[in-house]
Amino acid sequence: MDNAPYSNDISAVVDADRAHLWHHLIQHKQFETIDPRIIVEGKGMRVWDARGKEHLDAVSGGVWTVNVGYGRESIANAVRDQLIKMNYFANSAGSIPGSLFAKKLIEKMPGLSRVYYSNSGSEANEKVFKMVRQISHRHHGGKKYKILYRERDYHGTTITALSAGGQPQRVMQYGPLTPGFVEVPHCLEYRNQYPDSESYGIAAANAIEDVILREGPDTIGAICLEPVTAGGGVITPPEGYWQRVQEICSKYDILIHIDEVVCGLGRTGTWFGYQNYGVKPDFVTMAKGVASGYAAISCTVTTEAVFDMFKDNPSDPMSYFRDISTFGGCASGPAAALENMRIIEDENLLQNTLTMGARLMNNLHGLAEKHKVIGDVRGKGLFCGAELVSDRQTKEPADEKMVAAVVADCMAQGLIIGMTNRSLPGFNNTLCLSPALIASANDIDEITDGIDKALIKVFG
Ligand SMILES: Cc1ncc(COP(=O)(O)O)c(C=O)c1O
Repeated sequence: MDNAPYSNDISAVVDADRAHLWHHLIQHKQFETIDPRIIVEGKGMRVWDARGKEHLDAVSGGVWTVNVGYGRESIANAVRDQLIKMNYFANSAGSIPGSLFAKKLIEKMPGLSRVYYSNSGSEANEKVFKMVRQISHRHHGGKKYKILYRERDYHGTTITALSAGGQPQRVMQYGPLTPGFVEVPHCLEYRNQYPDSESYGIAAANAIEDVILREGPDTIGAICLEPVTAGGGVITPPEGYWQRVQEICSKYDILIHIDEVVCGLGRTGTWFGYQNYGVKPDFVTMAKGVASGYAAISCTVTTEAVFDMFKDNPSDPMSYFRDISTFGGCASGPAAALENMRIIEDENLLQNTLTMGARLMNNLHGLAEKHKVIGDVRGKGLFCGAELVSDRQTKEPADEKMVAAVVADCMAQGLIIGMTNRSLPGFNNTLCLSPALIASANDIDEITDGIDKALIKVFG
């Protein structure tokens, strides 16, 4: 694994990094004694670091982003061609790739019709929050302003996106938060809060109704949910959950916002995660996989009914959506997204995600038979998690440091996996896997073999 494709001396880069870079999500004290990790090259499923060490990437760029894999020249060429022709104009005007990608995207999303561009998942979600607030002001006398979010879900890093965040460790020390966001309980069946109910899915959805009734239905404008919770522990919705959520939202006139920032563009084997569950959203947001990290782009997609609410009174100068995202006008984003989508279609990557996802799940179940520390295995498509526990009977979560040791051992082997990271106090115990949608059977087996070795090493 140590055949270096990159042999240049990059010590100057390491020095510059150590002296000036502030990396994301990491305590920097350690870099006084060890080198920061610098990734210099990627091809397909693999990346090479500054020392030439090769890694199999089982998390698509660390955070479930590079859906079509590294080194895609056709995307680079599409972006290059577009930049030379026309790189940027504010999105108050259209662009050729912007229009064409919106059309292609909407073809995959029956019932939705309008695409609003910005440049990160957090921002795409903030657009929805602003739209919901404006709808409340213009159509409900300012009353339906509250937005529900779910325990364990994550919707982004800005203060208001954090206000909609159900992961306490992400939020801690960043308050005060934006008012008007209200939490509903999680739907992780493995940690069933309603053991006496006949159907966990129905009970978990009914818990949302309880919150609605407590808050007052006429105060709630929308609910924001991940179709499959990602960083909160790869939580697939229980049977019957989404249908009941839909019924409850229709009953109380609450708009459904589905955050597809992780699940969007094929991760679960369908174009969008919600399409597995028959739900009809009013808003869908997406980012990471839209251009697989080849350009920064996010989309807030909505229905014609929502769109119409912002043009019903052209004589009122305050009635339209008065929002702009400067880099939402970068033409590189939709140019990359168009080619990214072509690749997913032409290489049949949705089917590959289903086939390889089934293999990954099967392998993980095999590991669970062998390792008592695996309490639960869950996932959809190439998006899987294994929750580690110190006792299967009591479901006591495994020590976070031991879970981190498994991730570190995989890294030492040249395998990059993830875990719930500084998100849920006491529950950062789920290993996370989201390989690129191009993964082969050998890649999948290499991933689970590496985890097997790491579990033996850490837990015996
Ligand atoms: C479900 C979900 N929504 C939103 C975001 C925020 O996206 P971004 O980091 O692009 O702002 C993330 C990021 O991990 C996410 O997992």
